[in-house]
Amino acid sequence: MAGSGKAHLRPERDDIVLTVEDLVVEFSAGGGKKVHAVSNISLDVARGETLGLVGESGCGKSTTGRAIMQLPRPTGGKVRLGSQSLTDLRGEELRRTRTQLQMIFQDPISSLNPRRKIKDIVGEGISIWGSGATKGNPRERIDQVLLDVGLDPETVGGRRAHQFSGGQCQRICVARSLVLDPEVIICDEPVSALDVSVQAQILNLLEQMKARYQLTLIFIAHDLAVVKNISDRVAVMYLGKMCEVGPSEQLFSAPAHHYTSALLAAIPQPDPSLEVLELQTLEGELPSPIDPPSGCRFRTRCVRAEERCAQEEPLMREVAERHFVACHFPLVGGTAPPDVGIPVTIGASV
Ligand SMILES: Nc1ncnc2c1ncn2[C@@H]1O[C@H](COP(=O)(O)OP(=O)(O)O)[C@@H](O)[C@H]1O
Ligand code: SF4
Ligand SMILES: [Mg+2]
Repeated sequence: MAGSGKAHLRPERDDIVLTVEDLVVEFSAGGGKKVHAVSNISLDVARGETLGLVGESGCGKSTTGRAIMQLPRPTGGKVRLGSQSLTDLRGEELRRTRTQLQMIFQDPISSLNPRRKIKDIVGEGISIWGSGATKGNPRERIDQVLLDVGLDPETVGGRRAHQFSGGQCQRICVARSLVLDPEVIICDEPVSALDVSVQAQILNLLEQMKARYQLTLIFIAHDLAVVKNISDRVAVMYLGKMCEVGPSEQLFSAPAHHYTSALLAAIPQPDPSLEVLELQTLEGELPSPIDPPSGCRFRTRCVRAEERCAQEEPLMREVAERHFVACHFPLVGGTAPPDVGIPVTIGASV
């Protein structure tokens, strides 16, 4: 089985909250074909860290987020939350452990039940798991999380979602995700559907809640510019594979993967006096995940592609301190040694 490697994982650290190893998600596409939505993705997140997960629409970000939650269970791979292996847990034990992991979605209005009152939506976790699942009195807890996200519980508690703007609905979703005091929140494009003026408010709110509730975040976005300031580390995905992982500043100032470089070139530069990197722009469409290119999946759009890129899948390797890339001919660190790659075999699963 081809993989993108795990050199970027940090098993030596004792503060890793979430580890994902070789995650695979495949959907049936009919006629015996499969959608290779996520193919051997590995990542880890340390306590208090924010990991930005970026890539074009359709590259498998949401599928990765949902597979981490086991909604639905991945086709393959392992997910560990603290000392618990989510991929091995079943039934109520899985559901209870999963309360430590919450998700916020792109479209806040449709992710709130229109028939229920806001206080019931926010308190849903408590009504399922009982008052023992949260600190203190349930009513006070619901009021507190609403206050923390900037909403007055007296005013909003009895209303329904359609009475609020998109930004307010996202605040309610954040409150719901906080009520059981989770370890990790996966934010799946939480500001993509909001007006630009509201986006910054929600990003600020997430930063404040992260500090107040001592959270660890995975922040999914299709736009690198959105994750730049909020992320400690950034992971770049392309067509179901991991391309590059590194500290945010390093990845933005010296991208190693040709795809990351192309994504950066697409960000409008607000200050023309700043030094602009010579970056390749991104041409063409994302290939189909039903029949992805052999070797490096980016090769059909990469200006640097050579025969080796079709014959061998690149593996993750460290090219600068804590900066990892899966590319044979990266922009940082020189050509990959001959043994850092997996030869493509005819008929092998991708
Ligand atoms: N339930 C599903 N059945 C079939 N294909 C799916 C399903 N969910 C997602 N896909 C496909 O998997 C790929 C990754 O989708 P997704 O994770 O939503 O990407 P992203 O969030 O990066 O935009 C896409 O090609 C999408 O069409
Ligand atoms: S492995 Fe080859 S095709 Fe893939 S990004 Fe690197 S140079 Fe481009
Ligand atoms: Mg998505």
